[in-house]
Amino acid sequence: MSDTAKLQVPGKEVEYPILTGSTGPDVVDIRKLYANTGMFTYDPGFTSTASCESGLTYIDGDEGILLHRGYPIGQLAEESSFMEVSYLLLNGELPNKEELDKFTYTISRHTMLHEQLATFYRGFRRDAHPMAVMCGVVGALSAFYHDSTDITDPKQRMIASHRLIAKMPTIAAMAYKYSVGQPFLYPDNSLSYTGNFLRMTFGVPAEEYVVNPVVEKALDRIFILHADHEQNASTSTVRLAGSSGANPFACIAAGIACLWGPAHGGANEAALNMLHEIGTPDRIPEFIARAKDKNDPFRLMGFGHRVYKNYDPRATVMQKTVREVFKELNVTDPVFEVALQLEEMALNDPYFVEKKLFPNVDFYSGIILSAIGFPTTMFTALFALARTVGWVAQWNEMISDPDQKIGRPRQLYTGPVQRDYIPVDKR
Ligand code: ACO
Repeated sequence: MSDTAKLQVPGKEVEYPILTGSTGPDVVDIRKLYANTGMFTYDPGFTSTASCESGLTYIDGDEGILLHRGYPIGQLAEESSFMEVSYLLLNGELPNKEELDKFTYTISRHTMLHEQLATFYRGFRRDAHPMAVMCGVVGALSAFYHDSTDITDPKQRMIASHRLIAKMPTIAAMAYKYSVGQPFLYPDNSLSYTGNFLRMTFGVPAEEYVVNPVVEKALDRIFILHADHEQNASTSTVRLAGSSGANPFACIAAGIACLWGPAHGGANEAALNMLHEIGTPDRIPEFIARAKDKNDPFRLMGFGHRVYKNYDPRATVMQKTVREVFKELNVTDPVFEVALQLEEMALNDPYFVEKKLFPNVDFYSGIILSAIGFPTTMFTALFALARTVGWVAQWNEMISDPDQKIGRPRQLYTGPVQRDYIPVDKR
């Protein structure tokens, strides 16, 4: 604690501690505000509110910096692997070779789903959105894995975390297989985490599936780029659900539901749809004009971010990865040219410059995923798969925090004041 903040309210002055983290903005600790003044703070969308203490991920949105446990995202995406980043997020430090091998082995031992879950899938319509299937199946895991739902036991919490990380690729791949009417493929633990997912998604029992290392690397990188992102909407949802003591599978299902929205995880699907709608570079000015028009609700999808007021560092890595995947797969998708020109035009347009609107991670991820062969409806499911490690790491951190309380925001009430009930025949 370094200093205090004074607040003048009618009739009194109150003083609150200013808390300092290891980096980033200080926070005013207003926990006693209501007790001292009878007032709440008002902050819809939590634009100025730190909801918890966390040591996982740090973002400096003005500078375009994203660190996981102190390590820059660019370095992790270039040099690390999704398994290593998962270990880092869950355990706080990078693993040594032995620790990484053990962790990878542990995850691989949990990749299968309870056999009865295959029947559960058959209850969905074939045209169900994969995110609807994911919400249902992940929520249902709590009915199958009772031995890892005691959240007061750190060992059970870790088993649940490993299960969720390990089973998510199987769940997502099965959602895809179900939608295209192909048989489910069991995991192959001789493959990497990402290679196994590719095989379960695109392989068929009739043929051997050979994992393309460039595609495997690109997808693994996409997973790293989506692994965690501080107290975003879905992570806050997981924490809020978990704060009541709900079991981990239920909490992650809540996170998946939140992630589905087009302002959050659904943006990569929306961004690619938008790029297809634009179609050719000559139509870009028309869409830019619509995005700037106050009377038109249209927004450039994949542009802008609540926290980044600079280039999203994840978008830089994504743009590079598009080129690598296109080269490897010999793809020439006109949509990429539209994206590049749209980005250039927007970055030179005073509207986007003044509002500090830059491409976010989702602007390019859809183009890569589409080149690999994923339908747009799977994009958010892939995001959920990758974000699961962040969710479980944040959930574990919250449960271990001695200051943790049930999340219970208050409100500024503007409804009717107390009035008497009138029977229906007298209204
Ligand atoms: N296109 C055009 N204008 C935009 C855009 C956009 N993509 N994003 C923001 N603006 C404008 C708003 O109209 C607003 O203008 P105003 O001040 O004149 O009213 C101003 O910029 C601020 O926008 P807010 O919505 O208040 O900013 P907020 O921080 O609440 O929103 C959000 C962030 C939701 C990401 C927004 O930028 C958006 O809707 N972007 C498109 C969807 C998207 O790409 N989402 C992905 C986020 S990344 C992720 O979840 C992984």
